[in-house]
Amino acid sequence: MPLEKIMIEGGLPLKGSVKISGSKNAALPLMAASVLVDGPVRLSNVPQLSDIRTMADLLRNLGALCEWVTDDSLVIDGSGLSGFEAPYDTVRKMRASIYVLGPLLARLGRARVSAPGGCAIGPRPIDLHLRGLEAIGTEIALEHGYIEASAGPGKLQGRELDLIGPNGASVGATCNVMMAALGAQGTTVIRGAAREPEVADLCNFINAMGGAVEGAGTDTLAIEGGRKLGGGKYSVIPDRIEAATFLVAGAITQGDVTAEGCRADMMQAVLDALSEIGFELEVSKDRVRLNCSGGPLKPVNIVTMPYPDFPTDVQAQLTALLTLVPGVSTVKETIYVDRFIHIAELLRLGADITLGRGEITINGVESLSGAPVMASDLRASAALVLAGLAAQGTTDVLRVYHIDRGYERIDNKLRSLGARIRRGPQDQ
Ligand code: UD1
Repeated sequence: MPLEKIMIEGGLPLKGSVKISGSKNAALPLMAASVLVDGPVRLSNVPQLSDIRTMADLLRNLGALCEWVTDDSLVIDGSGLSGFEAPYDTVRKMRASIYVLGPLLARLGRARVSAPGGCAIGPRPIDLHLRGLEAIGTEIALEHGYIEASAGPGKLQGRELDLIGPNGASVGATCNVMMAALGAQGTTVIRGAAREPEVADLCNFINAMGGAVEGAGTDTLAIEGGRKLGGGKYSVIPDRIEAATFLVAGAITQGDVTAEGCRADMMQAVLDALSEIGFELEVSKDRVRLNCSGGPLKPVNIVTMPYPDFPTDVQAQLTALLTLVPGVSTVKETIYVDRFIHIAELLRLGADITLGRGEITINGVESLSGAPVMASDLRASAALVLAGLAAQGTTDVLRVYHIDRGYERIDNKLRSLGARIRRGPQDQ
């Protein structure tokens, strides 16, 4: 595929409503868990994203059926599952490929998954995934860059285990261990479970398919193993990160944007930050309107933390906004302390930011000026697009394949709000 760039003529206030897509981070584990269900599963509200296509290809390569039946619905049937490997080429494209580890163990008692390395946002260990799987009876070896996991018949045993890591709970490890535990004998109790809505969505999905998981949305989950899961339908929760990104797009352009079909209750920390800065919000259950009344804006101090606190996945976008908020703001990153690669690009647009260890200090400037910038990871790319929407002149965001991993047709959606944005080929 030829590389593409997004070209933005900044300076226009965005106005209107935008429909929020289904959550990528919820859909990925649901897709993997679908192979544990006896019979076809129909997932709706699935976003059309490259990460979703990568997971669909991976499941097909493992022998599952995985078909789009409408624009946003996938039917997955894992009855023909026979493969047990997630190869390096897939995992290097998408770390979340590791989500097949738990289901493969539960279904086939064996999995071979390329160990994910670091990525643009820093080191991303998987020790908690492995620790949790070992605790319920998996044997694990690391050979030639692959995790070789096995648990013969009757080996997976429900246990009480603790998954808390140095940076708090892990979304990925909680989901992976929960999926493996479905194939264990007896009940597994995960203490220190992640409370993110995407983890709760996996619990709700399993229960909707006939499973028994207690404690969705809390830090203790009890998963009953060995229950037969039957096919059915399930709708993925809306993407709280996409919704936050569009609200910030309204804020940074001094516009009036409504995120339709979102879940306001899953975005409280972001909504609190936006209103603390001085934006007016109209909040109902499934829509949020951000209207720039023109009142004074004030700086804020943000700390990223596990849910329900401020999400690391909105840190870059909020930083873009804070570059234009008068006064001195700070942003501390406690989940991925090196997740500041977008700062150097924001500086090229005229931002005034000082980078410390795990923390930045932002001195609000009056305006940004457009320039070519390079996307480095998913949320950093979104931040650069947001900055480009507010900057004077033209901003070209290169390597937009990063943004297509997690935002469904972001350029079309922004154009529908009045942005001057288009996509074109990038010179190599
Ligand atoms: C998920 C999200 C990602 C988000 C992150 C934190 C998906 C596909 N991705 O990633 O967008 O930024 O949650 O909300 O859903 N950790 C360990 N050992 C482990 C696993 C994690 O120390 O075995 C650490 C990580 O380095 C990080 C923290 O725990 O500091 C949280 O990571 P985790 O929740 O596991 O992130 P992911 O599931 O990879």
